[in-house]
Amino acid sequence: MNRYLLPLSVLGTVAGGAVLLRDYVAGGSCPSKATILGKTVIVTGANTGIGKQTALELAKRGGNIILACRDMEKCEAAARDIRRETLNHHVSARHLDLASLKSIREFAAKITEEKERVHILINNAAVMRCPHWTTEDGFEMQFGVNHLGHFLLTNLLLDTLKASAPSRIINLSSLAHVAGHMDFDDLNWEKRTYDTKAAYCQSKLAVVLFTKELSRRLQGTGVTVNALHPGVARTELGRHTGMHSSAFSSFTLGPIFWLLVKSPQLAAQPSTYLAVAEELEGVSGKYFDGFKEKPPAPEAEDEEVAQRLWAESARLVGLELSGGSSPQ
Ligand SMILES: NC(=O)c1ccc[n+]([C@@H]2O[C@H](COP(=O)([O-])OP(=O)(O)OC[C@H]3O[C@@H](n4cnc5c(N)ncnc54)[C@H](OP(=O)(O)O)[C@@H]3O)[C@@H](O)[C@H]2O)c1
Repeated sequence: MNRYLLPLSVLGTVAGGAVLLRDYVAGGSCPSKATILGKTVIVTGANTGIGKQTALELAKRGGNIILACRDMEKCEAAARDIRRETLNHHVSARHLDLASLKSIREFAAKITEEKERVHILINNAAVMRCPHWTTEDGFEMQFGVNHLGHFLLTNLLLDTLKASAPSRIINLSSLAHVAGHMDFDDLNWEKRTYDTKAAYCQSKLAVVLFTKELSRRLQGTGVTVNALHPGVARTELGRHTGMHSSAFSSFTLGPIFWLLVKSPQLAAQPSTYLAVAEELEGVSGKYFDGFKEKPPAPEAEDEEVAQRLWAESARLVGLELSGGSSPQ
C-alpha cells in the first residue's frame, strides 16, 4: 500500500496543478455581478461557441436577448436551450446573414420598427480561414462578414442605440489582429494571391480600427464601443483549418489544448464583463485582452488608417446612399 502512496500523491499534485494552471490561463469568471433586467441585447453568431454562451450569461442576468444568426434551425435550437437553462423566456431567434447586405438591412429595419431600445450590441459572429469565398455582394468572406457586415449593422442600429443610452457596443476582435495589415489597394483580395490566414488577421485589425473611429464619432452620445480578444477557446471557429478533423493533431495537441484553451463558457466571460460591468460605464474606444485593457497593435492606433477604413467601408456597403444612420 505504502509504495503506491508517493506516486499517487505526485499524480494528485500534478493533476491539481494542471487544473489550477488551466483556470489561471482561462482568466476565470466575470468579476461583475451586475444584472441587466429588461435591457435589450443583440448577439450576432449566437447559435454556437462564445456567442451562444454570452447570450446565456446575459439571459441569466435578466436581459431580453435576441440571437442573430444565419441558420434559423440552429438559432431556434440555441434560443430553446438558453430559455430552458436560464428560465428567462425573453430569448428570441432572428435571421441575420452577415454575408448579405440585404439580410443585414432587413434585420436592422425589423429591429428599428419593433424595438424602441437596444442597450447592448455584441458583434460576435466570425468566419476564420475559410477558402477563397466571397459574400453575396462580392466581398472577400472574412473581411465581408467579420468587418463590413458588422460595420453596416452597427451603423443601421446607431439611432436606436443612441436613443437607448447609456448603451454599449462590443466588437469581437482577436489577438490575431497584430499580424494584420490594411491593404487599401486590395482590401478584397482581388489582386493578390489569396492568403486565408492574412485575410483573417486583416479582418480582425479592421474590427479594432472600426472600434476606434466609431468611438471617436460617438463621443458625448452615451454610446460606448470597445474591442475584445476573448482568449483562445474550444469552439467551431477552426472548422476550416483542418485541425478539428485531424486525429493526429487531436491526439498530439489535445493535452496542450486542454491546458491552454478555454471552454466557450469561460471565453464568454470577457464579453459579458464588457456588456455589464458598472466600472466600465463611459469607457470607450479601448481594446481588451480578456478582462484587461491593453494597447492594440500600432496600426490599430493609427487614426488616419481608421478614418480611411471608415470611408472605404461606408462606400463599399453603400452607407452614404442608404439613409442609414451616419454619426457625423
Ligand atoms: N475561439 C477562439 O479561440 C477565438 C479567439 C479569438 C477571437 N475569437 C472571436 O470570437 C468570436 C466568436 O468565435 P467562436 O470561437 O465562438 O466561433 P464559432 O464557434 O465558429 O462561432 C461563430 C459564429 O459566427 C456565425 N457566423 C459565421 N458566418 C456568419 C454569417 N455570414 N452571418 C451570421 N453569422 C455568421 C456562426 O454561424 P454558423 O454556426 O451558422 O456558421 C457562429 O454562430 C469571433 O469573432 C472570433 O473571431 C475567437
